[in-house]
Amino acid sequence: MKLNFSGSHSQSHTIAGLFLLLLPLLLPNLFGPLGRASPSMNGMLQNLDTWLYYAELYSDKLQFNSRVDSGLPWLTKDGSRVPRLQKYHVFLDGGLNQQKMGICDAVAVAKILNATLVIPHLEVNPVWQDSSSFTEIFDVDHFIDVLRDEVSIVKDLPSEYSWSTREYYGTGIRGTRIKTAPVHATANWYLENVLPVLESYGIAAIAPFSHRLTFENLPANLQRLRCKVNFQALAFVPHIRALGDTLVNRLRSSPNKNQAAQTKYLLLGRDQIGKQNAGKFVVLHLRFDKDMAAHSACDFGGGKAEKLALAKYRQVLWQGRVLNSQFTDEELRNQGRCPLTPEEIGLLLAALGFDNNTRLYLASHKVYGGEARISTLRKLFPLMEDKKSLASVEERAKVEGKASLLAAVDYYVSMQSNIFISASPGNMHNALVGHRAYMNLKTIRPNMALLGQLFLNKSMEWSEFQRAVLDGHKNRQGQIRLRKEKQSIYTYPAPDCMCQA
Ligand SMILES: *[C@@H]1O[C@H](CO)[C@@H](O)[C@H](O)[C@H]1NC(C)=O
Ligand SMILES: *[C@@H]1O[C@H](CO)[C@@H](O)[C@H](O)[C@H]1NC(C)=O
Ligand SMILES: *[C@@H]1O[C@H](CO)[C@@H](O)[C@H](O)[C@H]1NC(C)=O
Repeated sequence: MKLNFSGSHSQSHTIAGLFLLLLPLLLPNLFGPLGRASPSMNGMLQNLDTWLYYAELYSDKLQFNSRVDSGLPWLTKDGSRVPRLQKYHVFLDGGLNQQKMGICDAVAVAKILNATLVIPHLEVNPVWQDSSSFTEIFDVDHFIDVLRDEVSIVKDLPSEYSWSTREYYGTGIRGTRIKTAPVHATANWYLENVLPVLESYGIAAIAPFSHRLTFENLPANLQRLRCKVNFQALAFVPHIRALGDTLVNRLRSSPNKNQAAQTKYLLLGRDQIGKQNAGKFVVLHLRFDKDMAAHSACDFGGGKAEKLALAKYRQVLWQGRVLNSQFTDEELRNQGRCPLTPEEIGLLLAALGFDNNTRLYLASHKVYGGEARISTLRKLFPLMEDKKSLASVEERAKVEGKASLLAAVDYYVSMQSNIFISASPGNMHNALVGHRAYMNLKTIRPNMALLGQLFLNKSMEWSEFQRAVLDGHKNRQGQIRLRKEKQSIYTYPAPDCMCQA
């Protein structure tokens, strides 16, 4: 038997070896309650995939056995242990903003474990379908440099660990993979469950990882490290920043200078603060794609055809398992659980005092229903722009068709805007609320429950609507909110990331 791990031949040995090893351990469980539940168990027993599936369910019990695995990647050719490099790497799910949080947590976990972090592997998300790597999105040298004194980070694994790949972990049960990290795991959890793996193998891979480090009761230095990663170390690659700057410059130079110079800037109307509007712009983040529309299970006013289309999509994608489906549209709206439609966010902005001279940048991936759906918004805000209207095809060539890079451009532009508002609570909203609070920038947080109720009322005058909106948003304009114990440090960076005044 080969000692060094190489090629698919020994890999299939590994799987076969595990398969046999598992039998005594799994039989009692399979013929227990599960066997009664499924009469077709015999057929399933012949299926290796099924075995592997159950094996994964019991993988915590298998950590010990799998060391007998014949691949023996942690032994060198002469059978001695490889020096303990204690590298660890993580595989991150989700869209751009979820991955960002995962990266910050990965650095904190490297600190907890005193291990070298391998630049995280970003998984392709089924919704966003972007295979961009860390280095294609973030400035990796800047990242390593900013964190130089905190954590050791390497771009790639040294050659003796080159077997430790996404494919390796995707095709079998591996002793070096930790897949049982609970959501919001404590620092001790990592010391108890990952450190032993690092000590035995010199390497550990944690997947899935996002959201697997607690926000509660962590030492202040670890929290500050997370802040440093999120707000200082993670910078986008130069071409994303350059495109972002181009968009910002064009937004700041008004299409009609004379007109803009005369306009009044009504900020949240109540105080009727008149200000010169020139050079100012608002970013509206509108995530209103089919996926999100279907998932929220709300009625978006598109009539029977839209209802049927969304119901069908829900059925195909989640076999109807959408938690919100148990509520009526009215209940969901009252609870503030429906993302605002382009029309609704337009009415909100108008009620807040933004007018047809407001320079609006639409940060959006795809709008479900297309241009027809945003035409009302465009009527209210004729100076609305987006990436396409502001930059040429050539200028956008490097990001076109790549959801994470497009989201990165929108994120960058959003950070430069005078005001940011998001039509739906979600990862992008939370990330920007946090980052802008950290930079002391203004963000309007729609009061979803209030708006849900107002939009349900069909007998309301505009003036009543406007008064209710203004009242309901007085305290939602970027005032610093201190983080509560369980809340995310990335959404609420105060006080952990910020100096005490
Ligand atoms: C971390 O690792 C370094 C180098 O391997 C070692 O010198 C140091 O003592 C370790 N610190 C802790 C807290 O384990
Ligand atoms: C903006 O609205 C005002 C008043 O409603 C109107 O007079 C003006 O023509 C509008 N401007 C544009 C560019 O639509
Ligand atoms: C709708 O709004 C009007 C005016 O504010 C109010 O009198 C009425 O009670 C509201 N109706 C409902 C069902 O909330």
